[in-house]
Amino acid sequence: MLRQYLERHGLSPEIQWSPRIRPGPHAMSPFTAMGVFCGLFLPLSLSEYNTLNCIPRKSVLYQNNMKLFREEGIWNYSTMLVREDLGLLLLGAREVVYALNISDISIKKAVVYWQVTDEKQKDCKYKGKHAEIECRNYIRTLHKVDHSRMYVCGTNAFSPICDYMTYSEGKLTLENTLEEGKGKCPFDPFQRYSSIMVGNDLYSATSINFLGSEPVVLRSSNSSLRTEFKSSWLNEPNFVYMDLVPESMNNPEGDDDKVYLFFSENAVEYDFYNKLVVSRVARVCKKDMGGQRTLQRKWTSFLKARLDCSLPEPSLPSVVQDVFLVKDSDWGKSVFYAVFTPQSSSSDVSTVCAYNISAIGHLFDTGKFKTPVTVETSHVKWVMYSGEVPTPRPGACINNAARSHGMMSSLDLPDKTLQFIRDRPLMDDAVPPLTGRPLLVKKGAKFTRLVVDNVLALDGERYAVLFIGTENGYVQKAVNYAGEMFIIEEIQLYQTPDSIKTMRLSSSTGQLYTGSDYGAVQMPLSDCGRYELCLDCVLARDPYCGWDLSAGLCSDVSNSKYASEITSYFSGKIIQSLKEGDISKCPKSETVKPENYTLFPGNNIKLPCQPDSNLAVVHWIFSGQPLPSDTKHYIYNEGLLILNASADDAGQYTCESEEQVNSRTITRTMAIYRLQPNTHTGGSETTTEPPYGHSTAGPEVTEETDPLDPPLPPASRSEDHRVVGLQVAVAILSLMLVGLVAWNLYKGQFRKRSSATSGAGQLKNPSINYTHIQNSRTSEIKPLRTAPIHNANNNHCAIITLKGNGEQNFSSGGNTMNVDGLGYIHDESEI
Ligand SMILES: *[C@@H]1O[C@H](CO)[C@@H](O)[C@H](O)[C@H]1NC(C)=O
Ligand SMILES: *[C@@H]1O[C@H](CO)[C@@H](O)[C@H](O)[C@H]1NC(C)=O
Ligand SMILES: *[C@@H]1O[C@H](CO)[C@@H](O)[C@H](O)[C@H]1NC(C)=O
Ligand SMILES: *[C@@H]1O[C@H](CO)[C@@H](O)[C@H](O)[C@H]1NC(C)=O
Repeated sequence: MLRQYLERHGLSPEIQWSPRIRPGPHAMSPFTAMGVFCGLFLPLSLSEYNTLNCIPRKSVLYQNNMKLFREEGIWNYSTMLVREDLGLLLLGAREVVYALNISDISIKKAVVYWQVTDEKQKDCKYKGKHAEIECRNYIRTLHKVDHSRMYVCGTNAFSPICDYMTYSEGKLTLENTLEEGKGKCPFDPFQRYSSIMVGNDLYSATSINFLGSEPVVLRSSNSSLRTEFKSSWLNEPNFVYMDLVPESMNNPEGDDDKVYLFFSENAVEYDFYNKLVVSRVARVCKKDMGGQRTLQRKWTSFLKARLDCSLPEPSLPSVVQDVFLVKDSDWGKSVFYAVFTPQSSSSDVSTVCAYNISAIGHLFDTGKFKTPVTVETSHVKWVMYSGEVPTPRPGACINNAARSHGMMSSLDLPDKTLQFIRDRPLMDDAVPPLTGRPLLVKKGAKFTRLVVDNVLALDGERYAVLFIGTENGYVQKAVNYAGEMFIIEEIQLYQTPDSIKTMRLSSSTGQLYTGSDYGAVQMPLSDCGRYELCLDCVLARDPYCGWDLSAGLCSDVSNSKYASEITSYFSGKIIQSLKEGDISKCPKSETVKPENYTLFPGNNIKLPCQPDSNLAVVHWIFSGQPLPSDTKHYIYNEGLLILNASADDAGQYTCESEEQVNSRTITRTMAIYRLQPNTHTGGSETTTEPPYGHSTAGPEVTEETDPLDPPLPPASRSEDHRVVGLQVAVAILSLMLVGLVAWNLYKGQFRKRSSATSGAGQLKNPSINYTHIQNSRTSEIKPLRTAPIHNANNNHCAIITLKGNGEQNFSSGGNTMNVDGLGYIHDESEI
């Protein structure tokens, strides 16, 4: 039925979901069409679960004007170095390094190719590696050394090497002082690793052998240090991040600077039938020199602890994927932000947790250790160590107390201390997240990377704005207001669902850079111009943006580039209301004016009205009464459809949107239409003809422009005309679906069904585009549109279910319904 209907109107199912008119947030999706229905189930599932699963307020789909850098035949843009001093972004890919203009990365300033030799490639292939994929030189390390020099390493066909590289007179040059890269850069291009340059010392965490079986945390300098090769130190680790915290600064204890390392590894401390992965933070002291007899040329300060980022419901520990340190001039106030994904591939719930550096330090400085004990014959169990701890405390840096006992470096540490730490590098307690729970829990495309900008807003406060990359090429921009996580927007950076593999931030230029296998993309940290109305600008609660009353614009006010902006804020000339979303100061001129139209009986009339926020719900009011969606009036995401209009339908239609902001409901009138009966007097000057043909009785699908096109958000405008036909089609389809669902309910036949099951044809055999949409968050938010209304604490966040099995389940009593199954018709026979 559906197929025939669509084909009759020249809308084959293939066209339906093509990218041009794909059901994005500003177009219509079948999920939205089901919004009314889904609302029945949401109150139950929302009260059952916690309120954490966030919906981005706006969804910005892929736009062609995105600044992209890629070169034909070059892949794996995985390594970046921001050189604000040179005005460059250095980008490492497979066998090449680029120097790009930092303000426009599509401008290539210089390039240097670094290919493997045929000999190396042959050698690598001979050892059983894939010649074209693994036996190449993947640039994995790029660090600043001094003004014009950089340190660069590549995997070099499973034989890592490093070199110095200079940028001068617009040219990139490799110095050819080839250095051994073992331990500094992975052999395997698919292996995660991390490194930082501290002064002239390179700290790296990777594996040091061809097989990838010997992990190491290495400091390469003339007093090189490394980790002990023991599973209690590192147990099949996956290194993700490293950074330096200058803890010697203003330190009353005379403590040392420390390098923090984040990774995941196989747990030794749990009895588990299988390998259990846990997330860790470890740290070493910068001035560590190793031990004299024990731990010679090994870290004497390597301590590690489990990182806790538990979900509200029992689940396996989540796995850290990336970390970002938000530095504070007072280092004790610095905060690590980390993204986690589930270790079970059947779940798709990503989390973000933050950790107080002081809390981590406190745990390492005063916490209990774990110790191995042999139970039964050979089984080793790790339990809390409750015996005496030697002094100086194992793992501690050399501080004033140690110096007062004549221990000036780690070489002076007693064997007792060193033996203790060699055998017990693991702390008993885990590091708890800052707020005691994750900041953000989100179902959908997994998080891969994050960076955090610390933005000074007009109220004088600093806000940490999180930019989180996902495995389908989106960036989620989120901020925490008084404990409530708010996703300002999500932005699709890649046309195809590419996994974001690297992210870098340049606060001074206000740009974010992401890299994937396909290419590098540049994105401004804010695009305030996207908000055309004061209401939208203020409700966006974006700390970068404020509404400038005199200019009538939403402008970038971040980091108070101009002192005058702060003055303007306090004198009320710039409106920004981050915590409250208070729109009361917005100009009244933004209220909508009624539009008059003539009603021709027998026509189908579409009255457009689209909320400009994913968090808003639309209501229609007709002659002072709320208008229900029924067989005659169909309310959907883009407006109201009146089928087969009659004279009774004349009157005033008001479209109102309700948006939940910080526990308050903000009601806005979006549009007012006055339908006036056709008086047969030869046309009135104040009225316009309705959009569809005069004599048709059934829904007429037309590609003509719609005279009832009201002022809509810019993103919707271009697509609006094209999707008119689609809207009608989906409206009809949705009505049929409601019927189907009602019948199903009646028969008690709600059952789980995966999208993989059933039928033939385009709609049931998802195309690539279809799959993409489904993976992206855009599909996932739709059923939640009505959620805020029913949400008791009016949080923007709501969890549907954490019992992730890769599908989205809304529970209601014993019935489970699956969005996949409902949102799309898999087979004509189902209608
Ligand atoms: C490099 O990119 C190609 C093409 O997308 C991909 O197939 C391959 O897995 C990537 N290699 C690495 C090491 O990520
Ligand atoms: C980068 O491009 C901008 C214009 O897009 C130009 O003003 C600037 O000088 C360029 N920077 C460098 C380092 O080339
Ligand atoms: C490292 O070597 C350089 C020169 O080779 C020397 O000047 C420096 O003092 C050495 N540093 C240490 C810690 O030994
Ligand atoms: C981090 O911990 C320290 C010491 O416990 C505390 O003073 C500080 O307020 C904490 N920082 C945050 C952001 O909670």
